[in-house]
Amino acid sequence: MTSNDLIDLVTETKKQLEHLRVLGVEGIQVSTVQQPRVETAPTPMPTPSEPLSSLFGDLTPAPVKLTKSTETFEQIHAEIGDCTRCPLHQQRTHIVHTEGNRKARLMFVGEAPGADEDIQARPFVGRAGQLLTKIIEAIGMKREEVLIGNVNRCRPPGNRTPTIEEASVCKPYLLREIAVVQPEVIVVLGNTAMKNLLDTREGITRLRGQFQDYKGIKVMPTFHPAYLLRDPSKKRETWEDLKKVRDYLDTHRSSDR
Ligand code: URA
Repeated sequence: MTSNDLIDLVTETKKQLEHLRVLGVEGIQVSTVQQPRVETAPTPMPTPSEPLSSLFGDLTPAPVKLTKSTETFEQIHAEIGDCTRCPLHQQRTHIVHTEGNRKARLMFVGEAPGADEDIQARPFVGRAGQLLTKIIEAIGMKREEVLIGNVNRCRPPGNRTPTIEEASVCKPYLLREIAVVQPEVIVVLGNTAMKNLLDTREGITRLRGQFQDYKGIKVMPTFHPAYLLRDPSKKRETWEDLKKVRDYLDTHRSSDR
């Protein structure tokens, strides 16, 4: 094996390990069985007749694209029904479904309903929601033009962060709605929404402002409006992030909407 082959092999292996890390694999088993040491003169390695890349094929994972779904929101919501699949149902008043334009180019995803949303059965209608409406208008759109939803549809007691189990029970319905609408851009609001949609361990401060990918859809992570209410100095960065979204939508006008 030439040194270039070795470098290629190490680079490919690193890529594969990184891919596995992104998929959530935390470790791989390495055999600890010691081979008996045989003291013989080293045998010269035969020069491979083919490059290693053709031996292993293309190891780069193919990008996953979202398949357009023909379900309706009504079918999805009927399937959710009077949900008792996770403990959050015990204290909720209402299930809060995704609302807005079902042909939307832009979607906002939050964490879970708060007290106002729980009472009104609508996402983002409390103080944070009113700020979100202003943010939408600041980029020249109306709230009715976009789609707004949450990873979890029931209010967690005391507005705590939903657990991983609670999120994993509810998230598939959001992903099915995304497959129906196929928005061009999804803005994920805050750490919890971002981590759930992107399956990442990075924090919002690190990834905000940089377009990410969810199955071919552009995803912009930014701060949650509730956080902006607590720390208004972060509004400037949020505005920078949303300008990127506006510019993307302005320059990628799709014909079929
Ligand atoms: N915070 C969220 O994450 N979602 C809402 O709907 C309201 C507040």
